[in-house]
Amino acid sequence: MSNVVITGCNRGLGLTLLEAFAKKKYNVFACIRKENSEFLDICHQIEQAEGVFIYPIYFEMSDKEQIINGMDEIASYGVDIDVLINNAAISTIKPQFLTEYEEVEQAFKVNYFAPFLITKYISGLMMRQDKACIVNVTSIGSLGRQPGGVCYDASKAALNQYTVSIAQELAPFNIRVNAVAPGPMQTDMFINMKEGVQKKLEQSTALKRSAAPEEIAKVILFLVSDEASYVTGQIIRVDGGSII
Ligand SMILES: NC(=O)c1ccc[n+]([C@@H]2O[C@H](COP(=O)([O-])OP(=O)(O)OC[C@H]3O[C@@H](n4cnc5c(N)ncnc54)[C@H](OP(=O)(O)O)[C@@H]3O)[C@@H](O)[C@H]2O)c1
Repeated sequence: MSNVVITGCNRGLGLTLLEAFAKKKYNVFACIRKENSEFLDICHQIEQAEGVFIYPIYFEMSDKEQIINGMDEIASYGVDIDVLINNAAISTIKPQFLTEYEEVEQAFKVNYFAPFLITKYISGLMMRQDKACIVNVTSIGSLGRQPGGVCYDASKAALNQYTVSIAQELAPFNIRVNAVAPGPMQTDMFINMKEGVQKKLEQSTALKRSAAPEEIAKVILFLVSDEASYVTGQIIRVDGGSII
């Protein structure tokens, strides 16, 4: 049986990924911020339905010590980690004149430094195996030119570059590394935006709609499968043909 580490599993795309990987018979190290009984009930149901194990791992993504403790806990299971998905993120979109230094710092801690630290640790474990895959979830915002991007878009652009760079470093160990850059997707991150902003983002796609999280998860499942065995170092836009 294969094992996957997914961050931000309690809702949104992370929860969809947890369900999708469990359906493919992966055991899941489900990284979430704090204990949550509703989430534990969901995990229990998935475990029963799919015959897999789900191990909740608790840490705050902006806290270096907590992340390291979480990684040590994963390593203590002594199993191969076949897949890592860096999914958890925060979105802060506003003009630079209204943005505090601390907001940029927090965006980079959660969206860049945490994936860096987690990947450094997990890829160290993966190097002992025959093969493994890493997918970083970024955003079309990281590839565009829209205003308000000093926190979120900039941190996701850093994650894109990290993806491309470590794909080269990890290829000799048969570890493939790719990023998926979604367009607007029906999760809290999008639904909590003002209606006008949601409409504008949807209208900026060729398909004139936002994605269901399952439509992003399918591409991630493809990237970690053997069907994508020659794909590494790529930023794959899954954005409905967005012009951003
Ligand atoms: N939705 C979109 O339109 C869209 C578009 C492009 C890219 N994306 C990307 O898709 C990925 C998934 O996002 P989503 O749409 O599913 O967002 P979401 O619904 O807002 O979920 C975000 C997840 O990240 C976790 N998280 C955030 N800050 C954290 C922290 N400091 N410590 C620990 N966990 C933290 C959240 O945990 P809590 O519940 O504890 O907060 C939650 O599980 C992200 O990388 C996002 O940037 C989303």
